[in-house]
Amino acid sequence: MEMILREKDANEWVYRGEGAANLVLAYTGSSPTFIGKVMRIRKCPRNGAEGMCMRSPSALTALERLLWKDVDELISSSDNEIACQLFAHHVMKPLLGPKYVDAGMLVEVPREFLELVEKNVIRQRPAWRVDNARVDMHRGSVLLMSDHSVFTHGNLGSSPCISVEIKPKCGFIPLSRFISEGTAIKRRITRFQMHQALKLHQGEISLLSKYNPLDLFSGSKERIYKAIKDLFTTPQNNFRVFMNGSLIFGGLGGGAEDTNFGIAKAFENALKSVIQADNGLCTENLLTLVAEAVKKSGVLDRLLDVQKLDNVDIEGAIHAYYDITRQQCIICRELSEEQLKRYTSLHSASLDESLRIVKDYLIAATAKDCSFMICFRQRKAGDSGSGSICSNIYLESTKQTFDFKVQDLT
Ligand SMILES: Nc1ncnc2c1ncn2[C@@H]1O[C@H](COP(=O)(O)OP(=O)(O)O)[C@@H](O)[C@H]1O
Ligand SMILES: [Mg+2]
Ligand SMILES: [Zn+2]
Repeated sequence: MEMILREKDANEWVYRGEGAANLVLAYTGSSPTFIGKVMRIRKCPRNGAEGMCMRSPSALTALERLLWKDVDELISSSDNEIACQLFAHHVMKPLLGPKYVDAGMLVEVPREFLELVEKNVIRQRPAWRVDNARVDMHRGSVLLMSDHSVFTHGNLGSSPCISVEIKPKCGFIPLSRFISEGTAIKRRITRFQMHQALKLHQGEISLLSKYNPLDLFSGSKERIYKAIKDLFTTPQNNFRVFMNGSLIFGGLGGGAEDTNFGIAKAFENALKSVIQADNGLCTENLLTLVAEAVKKSGVLDRLLDVQKLDNVDIEGAIHAYYDITRQQCIICRELSEEQLKRYTSLHSASLDESLRIVKDYLIAATAKDCSFMICFRQRKAGDSGSGSICSNIYLESTKQTFDFKVQDLT
């Protein structure tokens, strides 16, 4: 299978969503090579930081090469796009579990392809996203991945597929002894909740999210259900639902408003074709299904382990960073003799130990920003369900069995 994308192929790709860094398109054409695939295209900021775009697509910096020296594939990569894909493949994938991470495949595209794609999707993009960033035309390739909002294997004439995307954020409270008195609040309140307060203050949101990551990561059935329900009430940028690849709940390409009566009703109606519950009960049943799948899959246990590689907090990692770069530590520069004592252990660590601290911090930061998608499909009578990577859940109140599979998006 040769993967070639030409300018004329751009029209077969439609807007699927975007984050701060990437634009994501789904394939609508008929080439077997691309059916069931999405494409992630790098963006670059429009204002000020435009220099980032112009930066030669050189490989890693000297510091990055030092950090990742044990990952041969990574340090020998010849450009930045390849390095990012290799980071997902060789660093994140083994940690999160190979079957849950799809590092994707880089495919070369001509500039004309990127230009046409950008023009085609501009109207679907949220206006503020368009203002902030555009497609990075200096990139020579895009990342091709499986579309995790559908069951790729045997979607032919089978039942509809519902896929739920959750961005759980950091699931633990840091305990690091390097946290100073001034920021001791970090040990009581989740970073997500503090960030909510900031966003409210800055007018970015009109209501605090009811979601608390500690509930979702708790392992308790009741608390997981509560978290899913809270995500449904205040989805912001943390919760989306797709039906057969089309968004039916949440914000396309960004955050969503709080769930009012109209939104809830439209969602309930959309679910009717999949969840065989009495009127008004489809949503509740879907939320139960999601909560059970979250628990049964163990997806958050794996994610939490990787997030916890950050065990010294930024207030510890920063000292290791200055040692690696052989610069004077700007934190310690401001401290008294007495206060300095707290950080001597970090500054007397070996280079390898400092490297490990910074690497673990970066890996954890990636895991704190991961999303995952759970895809559900009702199992029909006669389906064996064997030979697939998915598990299943019996929904008591509707007497339906659903197959599901989980994928992390790094
Ligand atoms: N492999 C995929 N399958 C289905 N949807 C995807 C896939 N990758 C990304 N998406 C969708 O596109 C959105 C933006 O992609 P993402 O990779 O998170 O961008 P960013 O790196 O900028 O955050 C996601 O929130 C998700 O809805
Ligand atoms: Mg994202
Ligand atoms: Zn220091």
